[in-house]
Amino acid sequence: MKHSKLTLSKDYQIAKVDDRVFGSFIEHLGRAVYGGIYEPGHPAADEHGFRRDVMDLIRQIGVPVVRYPGGNFVSGYNWEDGVGPVEMRPRRLELAWSTTEPNTFGTNEFMQWCKVCGTAPMMAVNLGTRGPDAARNLVEYCNHEKGTCYSDLRRSHGAEAPHNIKLWCLGNEMDGPWQMGHKSAAEYGRVANETAKLMKWVDPSIELVLCGSSNSRMPTFGDWEATTLDLCYDNVDYVSLHQYFDCSDRDTPNFLAKSCDLEQYIRAAACVCDYVQAKHRRKKKIHLSLDEWNVWYHSHGADFEKWSEAPHILEDVYNFEDALVVGLMLITILRCSDRVKIACLAQLVNVIAPIMTETGGRAWAQTIFYPYLHASRYGRGTALQGILTTGKHDTKDFTDVGDVDAVAVRNEETGALTVFAVNRDMEESNLLTLDLKDFDGLRAVEHIRYDGFDRYAVNTANDGSVRPRSEALTAAPDAREFKLNPLSWNVIRFEKGTDK
Ligand code: AHR
Repeated sequence: MKHSKLTLSKDYQIAKVDDRVFGSFIEHLGRAVYGGIYEPGHPAADEHGFRRDVMDLIRQIGVPVVRYPGGNFVSGYNWEDGVGPVEMRPRRLELAWSTTEPNTFGTNEFMQWCKVCGTAPMMAVNLGTRGPDAARNLVEYCNHEKGTCYSDLRRSHGAEAPHNIKLWCLGNEMDGPWQMGHKSAAEYGRVANETAKLMKWVDPSIELVLCGSSNSRMPTFGDWEATTLDLCYDNVDYVSLHQYFDCSDRDTPNFLAKSCDLEQYIRAAACVCDYVQAKHRRKKKIHLSLDEWNVWYHSHGADFEKWSEAPHILEDVYNFEDALVVGLMLITILRCSDRVKIACLAQLVNVIAPIMTETGGRAWAQTIFYPYLHASRYGRGTALQGILTTGKHDTKDFTDVGDVDAVAVRNEETGALTVFAVNRDMEESNLLTLDLKDFDGLRAVEHIRYDGFDRYAVNTANDGSVRPRSEALTAAPDAREFKLNPLSWNVIRFEKGTDK
């Protein structure tokens, strides 16, 4: 058996974890909306047509913020198509995904869904085919109380009170040639700045996310952030980054090492933000919004009928090793909580998602559902700067990859401490020793283990057996050594004892 050690002190803190890092994403894409969160006529649908079975799963995770309506979709979206009497709304060719958009679900339905579901919106505006005018009108429609054209239009649509949407994205992946209305950094920086200005003039309380790079391998990464931020610094609050990983070569060790790439990408993006801050001599720091992240490759190349409505696209069926990569990405996000203030697992339902449904039928949890649920449930608090000693190995694309990766979060209100750890080794267990320096009176209460499955095992509507198991530690509250099985996701939970 291998050995690792994680040394922790209450005083060695990275940052308070922003709850919004446990966010997710719903795009008008495939069956995310139609047949996913919204399906009037489904036996589990409520009076609004929202699927209660899906909401139950979302509530189990506790998703604080949901990005909407895209994604690539937003770059061709006319928000006006999705409001007002449903029978008057146009059916449109949707060019991002070659489908037909019926527009029976739009801004007010989404806001209603957020309310019922207990989450907050992160709304994206179209900076592909549209610009500042449509964006400022949408902010007026959503956030202005009354007495103007768009606020009264909203009220005439049955939404009397303003939606007060606080968080907005200035377009989506504008650096990508696949994007409708793709722009150069200088073109995008100018239009994003003018849009940001107008949106904040309508509602100064909003926060804005500037589009950064679509992934770490974009040839423009670095320059894109520097150029666009230079043009927008005073009017934006966050820069986005997106990252998906794949294992199409079936090289598991290399796949499990890819979270190292995410960490490097986050740190590099933060450096560029700091460079522009220094150049502008500003006090304000720009933080990061990792507003799309996940594993994505199983559905690549899948066929569907062009211009169909809500087709089965991007419906990745996730296996057990994908869940480990999602766990490793969550560990990375928590460790980078000094800079990553928003993160959205992309996406939430059916489309590269932790939750799957049958249209007209069942809903179930994919393998990746569980690490996401654990992180959201136990990862709120202050991320600690642990000293991790572990063996190292090389993979095809990475050197010095830790055999174990781990992070700890302390909840200051309850005194609870949670350690999240992945053992990347495919064969050997790893004994993790926790040196809890100044944590007096902590009781080990639970070791949640997600391990022992074939790495290609999946959950289906009929079989949800790829799930974690809980081991109560009530009989061993002083335990500080924990065996991490090969290929495992582990959540080790401590609570404050009553004796001290
Ligand atoms: O999440 C799927 C797609 O991935 C989004 O529409 C786009 O922003 C990204 O390329």
